[in-house]
Amino acid sequence: MARKFIKYNLMIPGPTPIPTRVLSAMNHDMIGHRGPLFSAVMKDVMEDLRWAYETKNTIFIYPSSGTGGMEAAVVNTLSPGDKVIVLNIGNFGSRFAKICTAYGVIVNDVKFERGKPADPEVLLKELKKEPVKAVLFQQNETSTGVINDVKTLAKVVRENQPDALIIVDAVSGMMAAPLKTDEWDLDVVVSGSQKAFMVPPGVAAVSISERAFKAYEISKCSKHYWDFGLMKAEAPKGHTYTTPPESLIFGMREGLKMLKEEGRENVFARHKANRDLCRAAAKGLGLKLLADDSCASPAVTAICSPDGIDGEEIRKYMREDFNVEVAPGQSELKSKIFRIGHLGYVESLDIIGAFAALEVLLKRMGAKTNFGAGVKAAMELL
Ligand SMILES: Cc1ncc(COP(=O)(O)O)c(C=O)c1O
Repeated sequence: MARKFIKYNLMIPGPTPIPTRVLSAMNHDMIGHRGPLFSAVMKDVMEDLRWAYETKNTIFIYPSSGTGGMEAAVVNTLSPGDKVIVLNIGNFGSRFAKICTAYGVIVNDVKFERGKPADPEVLLKELKKEPVKAVLFQQNETSTGVINDVKTLAKVVRENQPDALIIVDAVSGMMAAPLKTDEWDLDVVVSGSQKAFMVPPGVAAVSISERAFKAYEISKCSKHYWDFGLMKAEAPKGHTYTTPPESLIFGMREGLKMLKEEGRENVFARHKANRDLCRAAAKGLGLKLLADDSCASPAVTAICSPDGIDGEEIRKYMREDFNVEVAPGQSELKSKIFRIGHLGYVESLDIIGAFAALEVLLKRMGAKTNFGAGVKAAMELL
């Protein structure tokens, strides 16, 4: 008879598990979203989001997944016929290119080998070819487990095309790794509630610089739901244009409060430690990693399936035999890799537990791995 589990282990790169504190905070009566009670909640959330983003810029909150935030960034700052560069290091880079193309923006889709970050030298070469309206890229590419050097990429843009907009998808990177919106002069930065904020999916936050607001004034993309102007009219009152997802916003307030209590540097250190543990365990077990140590994501690790074993089979048995959910490879990496998420509400023992399960099932599947050596390597790191 199949084993019955009572505990579910979510090890994907978002949604992350949710702390009880956040769940409890969400268990709140609905309140009038055009009144002072809601304005007070929004004031806290906005203040703490600015802390997370390290910015004084305006931030808008949309009832939306992260993709909506990406679309808001594009439709509010660009126009059909504008030329942009997308630094495409994975699936979410491709998504930026698709969104731009859907609105008639002309994309120079600069693709990098999967598992590698965007190369600033390549960006420089592209910037020298012709003026562009914007450069778009990910802080952290979730599909490959690679983190970009946002600071350097932004610097290359500013030094070569000072007026170009820098649009960053920080959906899976925000609060998993440093992102200094103002210091690095980033124009639009998008994040999502379901990642390091430790809140369920459904809120996208978008920061907007003065340069981006100027671009908004002349942007000709069709828009209504995402229109910055509609949000701008409500934001000073602590309101949103549409009915806000109140429960999630109560959750955001608590998630952000927890992050502030932990402290920015400690939050980053926790994510780095999770990354190192995950990589040590995979290497100990004899598995290959898609990304080099130099660009390894603190949010998610992409692990290559052992020879002759399908990544989807690994996911299936992780779920069926141990109730551990890990993420699949996407697009051309499907079946070739699987991904372990370690952002948000995840601790070292969750990772070690997941590896214990992985070791047992790889042995059952007949993979040639060093049984026990993954967990041992992780324990030694602890
Ligand atoms: C880097 C990145 N960008 C964008 C998204 C899209 O977010 P959503 O699925 O919430 O629309 C994701 C989701 O995983 C992501 O990891």
